[in-house]
Amino acid sequence: MWRRSIGSLMVSISRTYAAKESNMAQLIDGKSISQEIRKQLSQELKELVATGCPVPHLTAVIVGDDEASKKYVANKMVACQEVGISSETKRLPASTTQEELLQLIDDLNKDPLVSGILVQLPVPDHINERTICNAVHVEKDVDGFNEQNVGRLALDMDGIIPATPLGVKRLLEHFNIETFGRNAVVVGRSKNVSLPMAILLSSDGKYATKAMDATVTICHRHTPPKELARYCRNADIIVVAVGKVGLITKDMIKPGACVIDVGINRIKDEKTGTFKLVGDVDFDEVRQVAGHITPVPGGVGPMTVAMLLHNTLKAARKQFSDRKTC
Ligand code: GUN
Repeated sequence: MWRRSIGSLMVSISRTYAAKESNMAQLIDGKSISQEIRKQLSQELKELVATGCPVPHLTAVIVGDDEASKKYVANKMVACQEVGISSETKRLPASTTQEELLQLIDDLNKDPLVSGILVQLPVPDHINERTICNAVHVEKDVDGFNEQNVGRLALDMDGIIPATPLGVKRLLEHFNIETFGRNAVVVGRSKNVSLPMAILLSSDGKYATKAMDATVTICHRHTPPKELARYCRNADIIVVAVGKVGLITKDMIKPGACVIDVGINRIKDEKTGTFKLVGDVDFDEVRQVAGHITPVPGGVGPMTVAMLLHNTLKAARKQFSDRKTC
């Protein structure tokens, strides 16, 4: 049972040892790994189109004027363009009713030229996010937020897996971080990131997803701080996705642990007066103890975008094959 993990365990031990020699965690450079993935996807897309298939198309929908959402979607569109996926953004005013948004989603669901639909979250308060996520056709749901895709993931059936946890999984694989029998703590219990992350980490590999076989603990706002620290100190892998600056500190880290920071917080740099992005982890301190660590920005964020492209290509392939388009 343990044999299959020995190779990656050796790599992990030697990397941890190397990191310990310099007393600094190895940096998980999501930006460069995502660029490799994007190159690979671009090649796969060229091959798909060369067989006579149409160019996959992603439609993003933004409701309202949230600046961060506009920026995220613009990034996603640039990434699509770079790998050759056709894309467009539909911008709707904040006053759009739920019925109007549902009508647009219905039109996009029926449009054979659209392979993927992404409704950027959050939506305004008068719109029910769950109703919207469930309205996107399961096969075009490149976010993996539709209840059918969530259910498929929970039951280990093939479907579309949310981009952020899928990206974290790819990072762990890339660095041969052993998960088999290890303790993993997911901090946060969001439906779109933490919950699917916990499902992936605990997967047994029997059906659609490759095993990670970790022992998973989910901590959240009602986990007492002392308990959070205790769980984290016992963890070989910590994935934190809360949105709270400095939540994870050096004293909470087991030496050599892998720390994945999904948090994105915009803070003012008191020295320069400019704004910058930081995660939930006290990066400068934690990197002195951890074995591996993701930076913010440049860690998980670019992987989320790469996995969205992966999901769009996967969705397109399935639709083309089901409809015998090419
Ligand atoms: N808002 C923040 N992250 C995401 C994401 O991955 N997908 C969507 N649709 N909205 C988001």
